[in-house]
Amino acid sequence: MSEAEKYAVIGHPIAHSKSPVIHKVFAEQTGENVSYEAIDAAPEELHSAVTRFIALGGRGLNVTVPHKQAIIELMDTLTERAEIAGAVNTVIKLEDGSLCGDNTDGIGLLIDLQDNLGLDLENMRILVLGAGGAARGILATLAELRPEELVIANRTLDKALDIVDEFADIGRIKARSFEELAEADPEVIDLDVDDYIDDESDDESNGYDSDEDGDSGLEFDLVINATSAGLEGTVPPFPGCIIGPDTVCYDLSYSMRETPFITWAKAQGCAAAHQGWGMLIEQAAESFKLWRDIRPDTTEVRKQLPS
Ligand SMILES: NC(=O)c1ccc[n+]([C@@H]2O[C@H](COP(=O)([O-])OP(=O)(O)OC[C@H]3O[C@@H](n4cnc5c(N)ncnc54)[C@H](OP(=O)(O)O)[C@@H]3O)[C@@H](O)[C@H]2O)c1
Repeated sequence: MSEAEKYAVIGHPIAHSKSPVIHKVFAEQTGENVSYEAIDAAPEELHSAVTRFIALGGRGLNVTVPHKQAIIELMDTLTERAEIAGAVNTVIKLEDGSLCGDNTDGIGLLIDLQDNLGLDLENMRILVLGAGGAARGILATLAELRPEELVIANRTLDKALDIVDEFADIGRIKARSFEELAEADPEVIDLDVDDYIDDESDDESNGYDSDEDGDSGLEFDLVINATSAGLEGTVPPFPGCIIGPDTVCYDLSYSMRETPFITWAKAQGCAAAHQGWGMLIEQAAESFKLWRDIRPDTTEVRKQLPS
């Protein structure tokens, strides 16, 4: 049998990654002759680790925390969605030996939310917490759906504001600090329903979105945690008022046990809380398809991992 073609995931830390297990199942299922390893590379080692892996015959990489943005400078080309996201989670070595950076995080999340969990995203008020590589990867995909409202909140507000600017052509996103999430527009809070009905202005809004920038309420339909705080075992100071009894929470982070964000979300009384296993599996299937031109069926591997 010929030597297996080499693939890997690169990150730091990487011991927690389940990508090698997932790709092993995909390889067995599809009969593709591939190997898949995990490479631990600190930021200062990224360049040498990628160069070495490719020199040894590597055909493709998955890229995870904290390299999704830094790896861009090692790419010869980027796909449009990686360019828009400003983040790469999949590297493909092309026939001519050049490296192409792509991003399957957005489509992976979308497949999990819509197909696996059955959510109707277009009609939702969506909050994304975090503005790192993963948030960038998913925001353009979410913005393209033109949901009812799309808000991004980050510890470093400037990063969220940058994303709002960069993605302005794709769809309207609002940036907030964590503290601002607890502050509805005062006019909205004080709105007297009778006053609203009597108001003869021709503003056809429903009365809960009082100005261009005002939030239409504190609770969101879908709250997605895209911070990496869970890797440190913590939950950032998110205000509990963003969660209501109908809110679905989704943590991009995943663990064999409950993640801190999922524990926190349940304590706020959310309707449902999901870890990012489904996204992980679906983005991996999309990467596998890019490399091997065959998309594995994800049903089996989803049954083997927690939900
Ligand atoms: N399920 C999946 O398939 C999947 C795919 C991609 C990523 N992920 C997960 O998503 C998470 C984020 O990944 P990433 O690539 O976006 O990481 P990243 O680029 O390093 O960004 C980290 C983000 O988390 C925020 N953050 C970190 N620690 C924080 C803290 N203590 N308090 C508040 N905010 C904090 C950062 O805020 P500042 O900007 O203020 O520093 C930044 O917004 C990771 O846990 C990763 O494993 C999962």
